[in-house]
Amino acid sequence: MGNAMGDEEKYLAVPENTPYLDTARYSMFKEDHKNIIRVLRDKIDTKIPLHLVDVGCANGELLYHLHREFPHWRMDGIDFTEDYILTARNFRGLLGVNFQVASLFDVNGKWDVVLSTGVVEIFSDPTDVLRKLVSLTRAGGLMIADGRFNEVDMDVRLQFRDRSPPSRSQEWRTDWNLHAQRTVLEAIEKQVRSVTFQDVEMNIDIPRDPAKPAAHTWTFRDEAGRALQTNGAWILKNKQLVIVEC
Ligand SMILES: C[S@@+](CC[C@H](N)C(=O)[O-])C[C@H]1O[C@@H](n2cnc3c(N)ncnc32)[C@H](O)[C@@H]1O
Repeated sequence: MGNAMGDEEKYLAVPENTPYLDTARYSMFKEDHKNIIRVLRDKIDTKIPLHLVDVGCANGELLYHLHREFPHWRMDGIDFTEDYILTARNFRGLLGVNFQVASLFDVNGKWDVVLSTGVVEIFSDPTDVLRKLVSLTRAGGLMIADGRFNEVDMDVRLQFRDRSPPSRSQEWRTDWNLHAQRTVLEAIEKQVRSVTFQDVEMNIDIPRDPAKPAAHTWTFRDEAGRALQTNGAWILKNKQLVIVEC
C-alpha cells in the first residue's frame, strides 16, 4: 500500500530550489490551476457558497486564485511542509483562507470540494492517497486531483536523483509516477458515483533553462503543435485530471 511504504516521507522540500517560498509566484497563474477553475465552473453552480479544501496546497497558489474567483466560498489549505504554509499565512492575498500543517493522512472532515494538485504522482501506489481524498469529500461533492494517468494498463514508478543543485545532489527522490487509469478506477470506483479523466490543456511554451535544476519543466511541440512537457528525466509530463463525483 502506498502510505504503508511511507511514500509521503520521500517528498523532499529543497529550499534553494522550491518555487513555494517566493511570494512573486502568486502573480503567476499556472495553466493547470486555470484548468481546475474551468472544470469547477463547468461542474458546479459556483454562485452557491461552498466549503473547499486544497490538499498538498504548498504556498496556497491555487487557493489564492480560487479565493479571488469565489470570495464567497470557505477555503482551507493543508500541507505537511511547514515553511510553505508559513509563506501562505504571511501573504495578505490569502487572508480569510485557513491553513493547517498536517499530513493528509491525519486529516479528518468532509468538504464539498476537495482538490489536490501535484500530489498523487508523488506516490508510487496511488490507492491510499486517492481513497483518502475521496473520504474527505461529502456525498454529492466533487473531488479533483491531477496526475499522470495512463490509458494503457501499466503503472510506472519513478525515482530520480537531481545532481544539479549542490546541497541535495546525493538524495534519491520520487515524483511523476505514472498510474494506470485502471489502477485509479480499482482504487475508488466502487465508493463514488463517477470517475472521469480529462487532459489538462496547456498551450504555452516553457524554454529549457540550463541555469535551473534538472527537475524543472520545459516544453517542446509535437507534430500536431501540442506543447509537450518534459524535464531532465526525459519523460512526458503532461497531466490529466481525475474528476470524481462522490
Ligand atoms: C509538487 S508540490 C504541489 C504543490 C501545489 N499543490 C501545486 O500544485 O503547485 C507537492 C506538495 O505536496 C505536499 N505533500 C506531499 N506529501 C504530503 C502529505 N502526505 N501530506 C500533506 N502534504 C503533502 C508537499 O509538501 C508539497 O507542498
